[in-house]
Amino acid sequence: MIITVKQFQKKILTWFEHHGRKELPWQKDITPYRVWISEIMLQQTQVSTVIDYFNRFIERFPTIEILASSSLDEVFAYWAGLGYYARARNLHRTAQWIHQHNQDQFPDAQEALEQLPGIGRSTAGAILSLGMKKQGVILDGNVKRILIRAHKIESPSTTTSTIKQLWTLAEQYTPRHEVEKYNQAMMDIGALICTRTQPKCTECPLEKHCLAHRNHCEEFLPLKTVKKKSPIKKTYMVIAQNDCHQILLEKRPPKGIWGGLWCLPLFETMSSLKKHYQQNKTKKLPPFRHTFTHFHLDIVPIMIALPLSFTLEKQERFFSLSDALKQGIPAPIKKILSEKIFS
Ligand code: ADE
Repeated sequence: MIITVKQFQKKILTWFEHHGRKELPWQKDITPYRVWISEIMLQQTQVSTVIDYFNRFIERFPTIEILASSSLDEVFAYWAGLGYYARARNLHRTAQWIHQHNQDQFPDAQEALEQLPGIGRSTAGAILSLGMKKQGVILDGNVKRILIRAHKIESPSTTTSTIKQLWTLAEQYTPRHEVEKYNQAMMDIGALICTRTQPKCTECPLEKHCLAHRNHCEEFLPLKTVKKKSPIKKTYMVIAQNDCHQILLEKRPPKGIWGGLWCLPLFETMSSLKKHYQQNKTKKLPPFRHTFTHFHLDIVPIMIALPLSFTLEKQERFFSLSDALKQGIPAPIKKILSEKIFS
């Protein structure tokens, strides 16, 4: 790039003054705690979705202390629908650690932050810079895309050597002063201008300098990596109701899909399902697919009426429909319960 580090920083910071986002909920009453919650929510989820979740979460858990002393079940209830529930589990664990070992104060060093569950190098950098105005370098997907295009990096973006190269660039560009504005600007430019498809290069402060744009190859970078095809798994998901139309939910084991969440019971085969509930009369609802990061799950919802003899196991409970919907239940189950059964 024919631009100095200083010029690069200046362009980004000037852009931020005029166009950067400054009114997001986590940009008001800034504390490390609020920035941490927002960063974890934003890891796999778009800003527009996060805003409502963030506001509800902060209203219920306004401090580390309150989060640490709440039940994981309740944290899940406020997370339900955001997906990637390991994030909620890690939030809770981290809050408990900070409450018990650090007098409710966030560590203010990169290495200490990276020790906490769910906080990686970039999130630690974001908490330091956005939450504490300290030096902190970020490299999320958006920032990676900007750097890859600006420098026309043509190696696959997931290899160790490319990631190392990107961190080096990110460190070089991150200024000592106004680091919080610079980092926010980079995330904003990545999300709003340097988008994966159809980037709006004419609005970009790096337009004249970006090597990918100058070579008309911005649409081809970052290089697409050939993704392995995700396997397809199948599950029968039981909507079991008792005489009072209450619905049976079970707490998932801590490991595996939807670990620790309330869920409709899952079975691999129809015969094991029928045998378990000693019920031959079943009603099959239209199947649908839910996609996780590494596999597709084809879900076949099955309705059954439970026999009077049915007894609850330790991890099972009956819920009224409205109570079930208030629990931390995964989005596809919420969908079944709210749309499918009674429509
Ligand atoms: N993505 C991750 N962090 C963000 C932030 N602070 N603002 C907007 N998008 C983000």
